[in-house]
Amino acid sequence: MSVPSIGATLVTSRSFEEYVAMFALDGDDLSGTVLDCPAGASSFTATAHESGTRATACDSAYGDRQSLLDSVRTEVERGNRYIAEHHEGFSDRFFATPDEHLGHRLTAADAFVRDFVDRPEAYVHAALPALPFGDRSFDLVLSSHLLFSYADRLDLDTHLAYLAELVRVARDQVRVFPLVPTGSTARYPHLGELRDRLAARGVDTTVTAVDYEFQRGADEMLVCRRP
Ligand SMILES: C[S@@+](CC[C@H](N)C(=O)[O-])C[C@H]1O[C@@H](n2cnc3c(N)ncnc32)[C@H](O)[C@@H]1O
Repeated sequence: MSVPSIGATLVTSRSFEEYVAMFALDGDDLSGTVLDCPAGASSFTATAHESGTRATACDSAYGDRQSLLDSVRTEVERGNRYIAEHHEGFSDRFFATPDEHLGHRLTAADAFVRDFVDRPEAYVHAALPALPFGDRSFDLVLSSHLLFSYADRLDLDTHLAYLAELVRVARDQVRVFPLVPTGSTARYPHLGELRDRLAARGVDTTVTAVDYEFQRGADEMLVCRRP
């Protein structure tokens, strides 16, 4: 099954709770430093900070802060219209209804906005594949809904370059979710070749099932362990 493209890359507002489920995060994972890239308007960094985690958000959309702030809620609404219009592509396991999705994501968006304004130092403007962080800067790097999701506009070489950069700044692991392009229910078709090319650089990868499925068929993450 496939549904139409979502259009321009969404700046989404997934919540801390979604991140915990998507990336199977536990207390150990959150006890070190964490980079969320691309973080979009997710509340992960805000909520993680409240519980004592040293989290940093990074996104190419942070360059024009006012325009981002102005569009956060309309982006949640655009995403919500997409899932309501293409409900056959989505599971009701995490959000029972489109209204529940809207409420959850608006709450996350509001938490993002408060933290983005109060603690600008935690939100770094940068674009893959060139991040302004040294090698091994973060214990754990999380990357959701850019790689694989936007395979219609990012080719295999770009996936490799983005992943290599995320691995460079990680001390231990990079976790990527989901493995299924937006509009599809099947894994990214070049995942095998991508993993082979990472292995050739010494990066060990595993595919792990997680307890989160919203986009149908998207319930696995890629874990990359650096050499
Ligand atoms: C669908 S959002 C995902 C945000 C967040 N991870 C979440 O799950 O809610 C995709 C994000 O990728 C960002 N983005 C696109 N290309 C990028 C790049 N080359 N480097 C960093 N961020 C990028 C966009 O600005 C957008 O915020």
